[in-house]
Amino acid sequence: MTFTWESETLLHTENFSFRADAPHDRNPPPPWPFPIRKPRVIIERYYALLAANTIQNVLEIGYLYGGFALLLADLLPKAKVVGVDIRPEPALVHDRARYYGGSIKATA
Ligand SMILES: C[S@@+](CC[C@H](N)C(=O)[O-])C[C@H]1O[C@@H](n2cnc3c(N)ncnc32)[C@H](O)[C@@H]1O
Repeated sequence: MTFTWESETLLHTENFSFRADAPHDRNPPPPWPFPIRKPRVIIERYYALLAANTIQNVLEIGYLYGGFALLLADLLPKAKVVGVDIRPEPALVHDRARYYGGSIKATA
């Protein structure tokens, strides 16, 4: 699974669109494209780390809106992706990203 950049801040996988470098907005906009609080250069570094595709479990500490957890689950369909956050602000509503209090589980 891979993604393409439409612009410096808009990326698409086969299944979703994400907004990179999204602001930390107390009233986040509707969850499309899904917000990620990371710039393009950092997302690409993570992607390079995923290339071997041997990762089975991901724990994201501080998922905020959940967009990056969903991106990782989409890029790593065999992996289990779980996030925790001390102060989550879920903006993402999707049946592949379920919230449990301060935890999120994202699945392929
Ligand atoms: C920059 S935001 C995370 C952005 C998100 N990972 C992304 O890529 O879109 C940092 C998050 O870390 C969380 N956080 C800070 N300290 C924490 C802690 N001790 N345990 C869990 N989450 C924490 C904050 O509540 C915040 O939501």
